[in-house]
Amino acid sequence: MREIMDCTGDAIKKAAQALKDGNLVAFPTETVYGLGADPTNESAVSRIYSVKGRPANHPLIIHVSSKSLLKKWTRDIPEYALLLAEKYWPGPMTLILTRSGLAKDFITGFQDCVGIRIPYQQIALQLLSEFEKLGGYGIAAPSANRFGAVSPTTANDVAIELGSFLGADDLIIDGGQCSIGVESTIIDCTKSLPVILRPGAITSEMITNLVGPFLTSNVNRIKTSGMLEAHYSPRAKVLLGISANPGDGFIALSNIPTPQGVHRLAAPLDVEGYAKDLYIALRSGDLQGIETIVAIPPEGVGLAEAIRDRLFKAAVR
Ligand code: TXA
Ligand code: MG
Repeated sequence: MREIMDCTGDAIKKAAQALKDGNLVAFPTETVYGLGADPTNESAVSRIYSVKGRPANHPLIIHVSSKSLLKKWTRDIPEYALLLAEKYWPGPMTLILTRSGLAKDFITGFQDCVGIRIPYQQIALQLLSEFEKLGGYGIAAPSANRFGAVSPTTANDVAIELGSFLGADDLIIDGGQCSIGVESTIIDCTKSLPVILRPGAITSEMITNLVGPFLTSNVNRIKTSGMLEAHYSPRAKVLLGISANPGDGFIALSNIPTPQGVHRLAAPLDVEGYAKDLYIALRSGDLQGIETIVAIPPEGVGLAEAIRDRLFKAAVR
């Protein structure tokens, strides 16, 4: 298993150098942990795919430290995308934009657009700026899990998930538990209206309030692995909104009582707590060898939509 590093300044410089040398660095963001590589280094990027077991035509998000790097990776940015970037970056939002020549096919999965985001997480931002000092233009990073599995929200979960697939010079930076816990909102900005491809903590209300109407897409022409039906899945079978039997795992808001004989995996006080602890709860069910996890999805708009999206995908078999 890979060494888990603390996040002192020296450790972050070492991690930036590791990226420069073509190694992989798993790092915290406010959403989930990412598995990072230099997006201009094709062989480093190809290792992301082999470590994750991910099909090569699924595009990667490029993380950058500031909007000044947008023009390196993209062109023809629509006005509404600039407004979104201005308001919600750094933050849990990925914009899909028309790519520049720097965003090669091995990043975009042979599409003419590229996903980009500025994370709102100190360690991630420090790592990005140290890497940029070494001549980097950002870090390509999918969630640091095996393809189709639950995203990790702690460094230890990255180590459990990917430790045996990482190489001797790859690193995992420990930045504690991710504060949001579900992946970024993805917005396709290549059309005249924004299209929400994946709901997240930048909610549909926040998007409409800023830029007016948007579309949602379930049938996407561009490939987004989070849009495959089955995704974010633990080993256990996930069932939604039904009554749990003794021995099942159980996830629900704290105001919902624990049924007799079940293993309560999470009892979050509110939707923010639900998002933050959801993946930890699913993973803990697997660690305990629980066969079936029953989850009661939260109701309402906002972040609850992102939680329901992940639960529905976790429940698809
Ligand atoms: O919160 C997040 O977005 C995390 C952290 C690490 O930033 N990253 C993440 O990456 O969730 P990943 O690869 O696990 O999910 C990103 C999704 C994928 O489904 C990918 O296919 C889609 O974004 N995506 C990336 N670039 C794209 C593009 N050019 N067109 C369409 N979808 C794209
Ligand atoms: Mg992922």
